[in-house]
Amino acid sequence: MTAKYSRIAGTGSFLPQKILTNADLEKLVDTSDEWIRTRTGISQRHVAAESETTTDLAEQAARRAIEAAGISAADIDLICVGTTTPDLVFPNVGTLLQDRLGIHGCPAFSLEAACTGFVYALSVADKFVRLGESKCALVVGAETLTRIIDWNDRGTCVLFADGAGAVILQPSAEPGIISTRLHSDGKYKDLLTYPDGVSKGFKLVREGKASVQMRGNEVYKVAVNTLGQLVTETLNANNISKSELDWLIPHQANLRIIEAIAKRLDLPMERVIVTIDTQGNTSAASVPLALDTGIRDGRVKRGQLLLLEAFGGGFTWGSALIRY
Ligand code: ACO
Repeated sequence: MTAKYSRIAGTGSFLPQKILTNADLEKLVDTSDEWIRTRTGISQRHVAAESETTTDLAEQAARRAIEAAGISAADIDLICVGTTTPDLVFPNVGTLLQDRLGIHGCPAFSLEAACTGFVYALSVADKFVRLGESKCALVVGAETLTRIIDWNDRGTCVLFADGAGAVILQPSAEPGIISTRLHSDGKYKDLLTYPDGVSKGFKLVREGKASVQMRGNEVYKVAVNTLGQLVTETLNANNISKSELDWLIPHQANLRIIEAIAKRLDLPMERVIVTIDTQGNTSAASVPLALDTGIRDGRVKRGQLLLLEAFGGGFTWGSALIRY
C-alpha cells in the first residue's frame, strides 16, 4: 500500500566557518555596508574554504538531518540534491554524498534549478515517497555559489554565499507535504545566468571571464510579481486561507522581496523566517537552511503550517505547503 503523504522526519544544515562581512566587501569593491544592508538586508555571509566543496557542505547538513530524524544512513533509500554548483561534472553530488554516507545501491542524483533547486528536489522526492518507491528519502540543497562570482562585480558579489540544508522524508498517513507547485519559464534565461559550461567548451572559464551575470532590477520585479502569484495560487489550490499559515519560509534573495511576499500574505515579519542578514543568498541551500534554523531555534513547531517558496535563474520558481 502506498502512503498518502511524505512527512519531514528531521532537518539539518551547515554553514562554512569563514565569514565575509560587508566591511570586508568594502575593501574589495566600491560599495558600503549601508548600501548592502538597505538594498538587500545582508550584513554578512559564509564562504566555503578553498578546499571545501558542495559535497562537503551537503554531507554535514545531511548528517545533522539524519541525527534529527533518529535514523541511520543505512535507512536512506533515495538521495535527491538540488545544486547549481556541483563539485564535478560527474559523478553527480547525490552519488558523491551517497559514498560519503556509506550508502550503496539506492538512486542518488542531483538536479539543477538554480535557487529553486531544493524545492524542485523536495517535490521529486515527495513523489517517490507517495508512490511507495522510497521509505526514507534524503533531500538536500547545497551550494558553493561564491565559486562562480566575479569578485569585482559589486552588483552580484555582495549577494551570494555558500551553505547546505537537508531534510529526511518518510511516508505518513497524515500530511506532511500537502502540495508542491513547480514552474519555470526559459524566456527569462538572459536576466540571470552563468554563461558557460561543458558543451559551451568552458571558453569563458579558460579566459577568466565566466561569472554570474544578473540584471538585478529586472530580476527583482519579475521575482516579486511571480512569487506573489505563486503564493496565492498555492493557497487557492489547497483551499487554505492566508490566516491559517503559521510560517513563511522563503528563498533568501533580498529582504525587500521577502517583505513584499509577506505583505501579500498579510503575514507580519514575526512569522517569516529570515536568515538573509547573516547568511546572504545561498541559492538552493537557502530554503532548507531557513527551515532548519526555524526548527532548531524552536520557532517552527510540529503541527504548524509552513509555506516554502523559491525563485531563481531560468527562471524557475516553486512552493511547498507543509504541515510540519
Ligand atoms: N554597492 C553600491 N552600489 C551598488 C551596488 C553595490 N553593491 N550594486 C549596484 N550598485 C549601484 C548601481 O550601480 C546603481 O548605480 P547607478 O544608479 O549610479 O547606476 C545603483 O546602485 C542602483 O542599482 P540597481 O541595480 O537599480 O539597485 P537595486 O535597488 O535594484 O538593487 C539588487 C540591486 C540588490 C541586486 C536588487 O536588484 C535585487 O535584489 N535583485 C534581485 C536578486 C534576485 O532575486 N536574484 C534571484 C535569485 S538568485 C539566483 O537564482 C542564483
